[in-house]
Amino acid sequence: MPDQAQNHAQSPRNVLVVGGTSGINRGVAEGFARSGARVAVVGRSAAKIDDTVQRLRDLGAEARGFSADVRDPEALAAGVSDLHAAWGELDVVVSGAAGNFPALATGMSPNGFRSVLEIDLLGSFHVLQAVYPFLVKPGASVIHISAPQAALPMVGQSHVCAAKAGVDMLTRTLALEWGPEGIRINSVMPGPIEHTEGMARLAPGDESLEAIRASVPLKRLGQVEDIAAACTFLASASASFITGVVLPVDGGWSLGGATLISDRLAKGLA
Ligand code: NAP
Ligand code: COA
Repeated sequence: MPDQAQNHAQSPRNVLVVGGTSGINRGVAEGFARSGARVAVVGRSAAKIDDTVQRLRDLGAEARGFSADVRDPEALAAGVSDLHAAWGELDVVVSGAAGNFPALATGMSPNGFRSVLEIDLLGSFHVLQAVYPFLVKPGASVIHISAPQAALPMVGQSHVCAAKAGVDMLTRTLALEWGPEGIRINSVMPGPIEHTEGMARLAPGDESLEAIRASVPLKRLGQVEDIAAACTFLASASASFITGVVLPVDGGWSLGGATLISDRLAKGLA
């Protein structure tokens, strides 16, 4: 096994999940907790952090959290530095803080567009800069949580499409820049994931969910555990030669069915 894979195989590993206090990313944090890792989460809401840390501890993991807005690089860097002081170097960073609302480009203020760009894209860059000094080298792995909007234009999603496409290009660019140091960086692109804020905002109501379920080739909605499993794999020694990829985890939805959301948003926003 290559040296950096051996490094990865050591446990317990230190995992940081940015935006890990609800929905998909919280499911990812729980997945790492179940695998025996120490897990730290970041978000804005202190109440959500406390609740998540308690849940991770209930799962048997050592857990902590800190509050930071990813748009604030100083707050992020201070929190990561404190985490390093407590636990040492980071083996895995999952970066998935994001914002979304449906709005046509003509109905969105520049600040609305900017907010999503600043959370999703600039925030991801802030995370990368904050964690870099504290990553295990070689052997660390970074995973961005992307979205189908990164590859597929959707009506009412100009901000998210622009931001997440940028996130995936950060993945590819940093794979080049950090590869020689033995740091891998990949994106996971979830499809429609049940019981999440993202789905509630883009496809509210049972009828929408049923239509989306029918548009997925595997005929089911994703679960947070599907994304957790993909992240656990990408962070593992089994993926030690995988870097710079964008992995759809979507039941085949990105092969065609994902246009449904765009069509429905187009009707709703017209
Ligand atoms: P969610 O429950 O709203 O999770 C968002 C997380 O990010 C929360 O922990 C939130 O905590 C944190 N966050 C938001 N803004 C932040 C900021 N400015 N600074 C720091 N933390 C911030 O959303 P979700 O639907 O599970 O989506 C999670 C990820 O999956 C996102 O990257 C999304 O683009 C992606 N995704 C979702 C779906 C889906 O079906 N839901 C599909 C494809 C991709 P606070 O609010 O406390 O800050
Ligand atoms: N339609 C059009 N514009 C909207 C909007 C909507 N539904 N929701 C927010 N905006 C605009 C606001 O009007 C504001 O612009 P303005 O100052 O020109 O009026 C701008 O977006 C920022 O809104 P604000 O509420 O001040 O931003 P925030 O920084 O507190 O929150 C959001 C950021 C808007 C992305 C918020 O929805 C959020 O925090 N989301 C996190 C959770 C989430 O979206 N989860 C799903 C992830 S896929």
